[in-house]
Amino acid sequence: MSLIKEKDYGTPARPGEATVAVEIDGKTVTVPEGTSVMRAAAEVGIDIPKLCATDNLEPFGSCRLCLVDIDGRKGSPASCTTPVAPGMKVRTQTPKLAELRRGVMELYISDHPLDCLTCPANGDCELQDMAGVVGLREVRYGFDGENHLDEPTDSSNPYFDFDASKCISCSRCVRACDEVQGTFALTLEGRGFDTKIAAGAGGSFMESDCVSCGACVQACPTSTLQERSVVQLGMPNRTVLTTCAYCGVGCSFKAELRGDEAVRMVPYKDGKANEGHSCVKGRFAFGYASHPDRQLKPMMRERITDPWREVEWEEAIGYVGRRMLEIQSLHGVGAIGGITSSRCTNEEVYVVQKMVRAAFGNNNVDTCARVCHSPTGYGLKQTYGTSAGTQDFKSVDQADVILVIGANPTDAHPVFASRIKRRLRKGAQLIVADPRKIDLVRSPHIEAQHHLRVMPGTNVALINAMGHVVVTEGLVDREFVAERCEDFSEWERFIADPEHSPEAVEEITGIPAADLRAATRLYAGARNATIMYGLGVTEHSQGSTMVMGMANLAMATGNIGREGVGVNPLRGQNNVQGSCDMGSFPHELPGYRHVSDDAVRSTFETLWGAVLQSEPGLRIPNMFDAAVDGSFRALFVQGEDIVQSDPNTKHVTGALSAMDLVVVQDLFLNETSKYAHVFLPGTSFLEKNGTFTNAERRINRVRPVMAPKTGKHEWQIVCEIAQAMGYPMKYDDSSQIMDEIAMTTPTFSGVSFAKLDEVGSVQWPCNEGAPEGTPIMHIDGFVRGRGRFMETVYVPTRERSTRKYPLILTTGRILSQYNVGAQTRRTGNTAWHPEDLLEMHPHDAEVRGIRDGDTVALASRIGETSLRVKIDDRMPVGVVYTTFHHPVTGANVVTTENSDWATNCPEYKVTAVQVTLTHPVATHPAPVLVK
Ligand code: SF4
Ligand code: SF4
Ligand code: SF4
Ligand code: FES
Repeated sequence: MSLIKEKDYGTPARPGEATVAVEIDGKTVTVPEGTSVMRAAAEVGIDIPKLCATDNLEPFGSCRLCLVDIDGRKGSPASCTTPVAPGMKVRTQTPKLAELRRGVMELYISDHPLDCLTCPANGDCELQDMAGVVGLREVRYGFDGENHLDEPTDSSNPYFDFDASKCISCSRCVRACDEVQGTFALTLEGRGFDTKIAAGAGGSFMESDCVSCGACVQACPTSTLQERSVVQLGMPNRTVLTTCAYCGVGCSFKAELRGDEAVRMVPYKDGKANEGHSCVKGRFAFGYASHPDRQLKPMMRERITDPWREVEWEEAIGYVGRRMLEIQSLHGVGAIGGITSSRCTNEEVYVVQKMVRAAFGNNNVDTCARVCHSPTGYGLKQTYGTSAGTQDFKSVDQADVILVIGANPTDAHPVFASRIKRRLRKGAQLIVADPRKIDLVRSPHIEAQHHLRVMPGTNVALINAMGHVVVTEGLVDREFVAERCEDFSEWERFIADPEHSPEAVEEITGIPAADLRAATRLYAGARNATIMYGLGVTEHSQGSTMVMGMANLAMATGNIGREGVGVNPLRGQNNVQGSCDMGSFPHELPGYRHVSDDAVRSTFETLWGAVLQSEPGLRIPNMFDAAVDGSFRALFVQGEDIVQSDPNTKHVTGALSAMDLVVVQDLFLNETSKYAHVFLPGTSFLEKNGTFTNAERRINRVRPVMAPKTGKHEWQIVCEIAQAMGYPMKYDDSSQIMDEIAMTTPTFSGVSFAKLDEVGSVQWPCNEGAPEGTPIMHIDGFVRGRGRFMETVYVPTRERSTRKYPLILTTGRILSQYNVGAQTRRTGNTAWHPEDLLEMHPHDAEVRGIRDGDTVALASRIGETSLRVKIDDRMPVGVVYTTFHHPVTGANVVTTENSDWATNCPEYKVTAVQVTLTHPVATHPAPVLVK
């Protein structure tokens, strides 16, 4: 596909029913009230010259290039800042306007380097385009007078340059940072000739608050802010539309290429999840796909102590198939299993679970979602009947109160965080429940009304107290409950018990009762209140209980089934939702249907020509336990580094070491591959052809920009292993896999690659009843019929702080890195986060004699690791925090085997630890940057 350039209407669309008809250059156009003249003109194909206007930013009116004549009005107003009015007659092209515009352009060009032919933006520069549009042929003023041509270039950012000599002070960058991203890192300083763009307090971009989202680079009409990849590789000449392979927001991108080389990723305006915005990971951190560390050939070894030997695909696949069969004949059908990856496409995941069920002949398949959002699946299914969030992202634009629990969107779901911030700046109110003072609690122009600093492990006590306030203060939406729900009276009796009152749980949760009451009143009293939550909810021994507690709260207050409300999991990895949808759990076939359901099993048995087991298989932790016991002997691991990401590393490595065959399919040799016998190289998102499903159930296309560097698609490899085991499994291309998913899974029956290519993306359920998909669920009734209130008894975690381990460790993510860091550590993103740090409250540090930057030992009853300290009052006293992006830190060496009672999701968020000083900062060597 040649380069896609989306149309720029100049100013944002205005919502609303009321319309206005105007005449522009003799054409009549009817547009919503408040629309600018510029946009109205663009709607009928009249493009008025512009520089400071672009349609994702509010108009600024500074360049004076867009002047028009309006009958009955004096002068020539700027069309970008002038709203349409009934009966208005506008002329956009007159000799006088042409002269005015040429005069404006002449002034710009007279203070601009005339290096168009060698400029990296040549051919993609609005200043250059506009000079042509207005017919500027000569510039009467020379460069002798005062000018900006010697202004310096700021190259501090790893991905883009700021060449101030080319700046036209249009402020699009400033407005993009404010309005789109919400970081407010840039300012337009000075006046008149001295006007200039400043990052932070006049320092460099890297020294400022800039988070490198790139919105300013995208907004810049000149080459002032320019991706360095464009400077190095040249302007791209073709576009492939695809989806970010990082977080669960699922941003759509234009992969812009020169030949087969990816030059830049530009967020796609028509992408429904991101609407043209992105974060640093999706926009810039794609270089890992061509990193020299990538292993492109299969490798094998007899023992894990042997060196690796590169082999051809045939040998590797034949060996895996043969060994799997041998192990089964020696140790039983159930002695082998597989793990699917939330980083892979739906199609790649589907074939792995099919291989396990049909070729392995058991249900020993699980997914990395086990360790993140499995409680979401359980909790929402019990209460609402479906294992997914209730809303689309856009719905938050209608929320009046946003309750964020155990999630840090600014770091983990940045593009959605920007959307939340936009809504908050427009007046929605915010409640944050989190032990840490996350960015949302207070950032430019945003302040949470309530920050409930809940102690790790006590979420259920918090949500029960909120339920108690709703019931005892008469805040229940009785009509909604009576019409739509069941088991309310039992829950009401349970929750009204004084043991759940905010006062009774104040000591447990650490939240002042009055604050909790006020926050609950705010949530319950809102016209529309929505809940957003993350792993700070699920990764607890009561993760599933907490999900049900939030579902109860939303039902009790009638906050379900329309825009602006709902209960929404923010999924960590790009395809967590999809990997769960595709039947990756040992008890569920695709579409969350239990393996014991004869009718469902029979559908698959007929299509697959295989007998399927009706008993659930092993979950990941059960596989590890069985491996240590000797009954589980072989594992296929798709795109997940379980040694780094799963809790209690020692137990994981013990289990892997005990197996006869470990097969790892991944991009890079990772920590798990140290215990593998076969390594099968995987493909990056730039090579994949398939779909990802984001946190709002949106199925997005992932399109290849190049053939697999490994010579095979991942789904092909899995099919060939199944065939080597004697089970015929073959597809001509990945669209056939989606066709099979649609054939077998009612919520996907309307999905096909052709449909997605036609409409862009759809949210499941997408079927006969909802051919265009389902942005909002449970509108007329819950998927399970009536919403079910569940009793949520608070059971304290077994993990307690003690004299030996007096602090509680909680873990999470940081913006620039992603999950185990396998991808982002191989990009320029290490400039921001070269190592995992332990965040600690100043008081906890002081009593231990620890200063900022000191290296400490972090010990739990499970293990010990070492890392440097960042003293930060974002932490509450008694709680420390770290990330798990770097294998050298191995944060999971200390996390415990405690897990969610219903799903075995590990309790990453609560580990009792001690922190002791080992190397004071003065004696510590400088950190080694990971290249
Ligand atoms: S990259 Fe993003 S955060 Fe940084 S200055 Fe530009 S818009 Fe602001
Ligand atoms: S850097 Fe670009 S967007 Fe910002 S004011 Fe200068 S020309 Fe405009
Ligand atoms: S918000 Fe998530 S999906 Fe979007 S660009 Fe960033 S990492 Fe990718
Ligand atoms: S585009 Fe209207 S004043 Fe610049």
